[in-house]
Amino acid sequence: MEIRKTVIPAAGFGTRMLPAAKAVPKEMLPVLDKPTIQYVVEEAAEAGINDALLITSREKRALEDHFDRAGELEDRLAAAGKYDLLTALRAVTAGVRVHAVRQGEQKGLGHAVLQARDHVGQEAFLCQLGDAIFSGGIGPAEQLVRAYEKFGTAVIGLEEVPVEKVERYGIVGGEMVAEGVIRIETLVEKPSRESAPSRLAIAARYVLTPYVFECLEKTQPGKGGEIQLTDAIKMMLGKERVHGVVLKARRHDIGNPVDWLKTNLIFARREPEMWRQIEPLVRSLMSNE
Ligand code: UTP
Repeated sequence: MEIRKTVIPAAGFGTRMLPAAKAVPKEMLPVLDKPTIQYVVEEAAEAGINDALLITSREKRALEDHFDRAGELEDRLAAAGKYDLLTALRAVTAGVRVHAVRQGEQKGLGHAVLQARDHVGQEAFLCQLGDAIFSGGIGPAEQLVRAYEKFGTAVIGLEEVPVEKVERYGIVGGEMVAEGVIRIETLVEKPSRESAPSRLAIAARYVLTPYVFECLEKTQPGKGGEIQLTDAIKMMLGKERVHGVVLKARRHDIGNPVDWLKTNLIFARREPEMWRQIEPLVRSLMSNE
């Protein structure tokens, strides 16, 4: 009943972030001074998880490299007495064992998760999309792990979205069984406003049971020839219960330029010293409108 591992799909092409994401994985793009992927791994570590499997690709080796020790650089910083930087660098590799497996072809998020089957084995596991991070409250990983301990089922992280945006998301429907907790009965990918079963959208974080792998094997490619994780979870509902938990945290995507920049500003706003230097620029840009 313990979640020990997280699976982090990060093998997508990131076309919305081109040309930035051509040679640098979008999950390596920084939010302030850290690459996005590091926030994701730290969120898992805060939930007590010490094993992370990155799903990467041939072009995205930088993701694995980031979590490797950098001996020469560490020696150089130590010799120069730059202990703050040294501590920050060592913190990257502390606490969590990071592994990687490659998704040979980008056949969708579901196919990416399927690559984790051997590593995960017969345990429930956390799944965190590598291009979304959260702020405020308790990290989503911790919230989902606690929910799994309570319900013993797969648990999907949810966020409430405005009705005019339901068409962009996977939306769940079902019975609210406690405040912010829904027993999921249906899942609809990008529904119209009229057909959406709720305003609760799937939000880049999941606890999944090993049964998801059986379902993924049977899932047929959907839109764009991709194997969708949502389709496999829908199949799971035929045999297993699945709960959804409305996350008490704010989601930030970095997969397109506007959201990436917004995320940087929101995170900068939380750092008083940094914001002191940025605020005058923001104010002057606004007054020049
Ligand atoms: P996205 O839906 O953002 O797709 O994937 P993408 O390919 O990365 O980006 P665009 O749409 O071309 O701009 C959500 C998450 O699933 C991973 C991505 O790396 C991202 O973290 N993913 C997606 C895979 O690992 N493999 C895939 O085949 C597709």
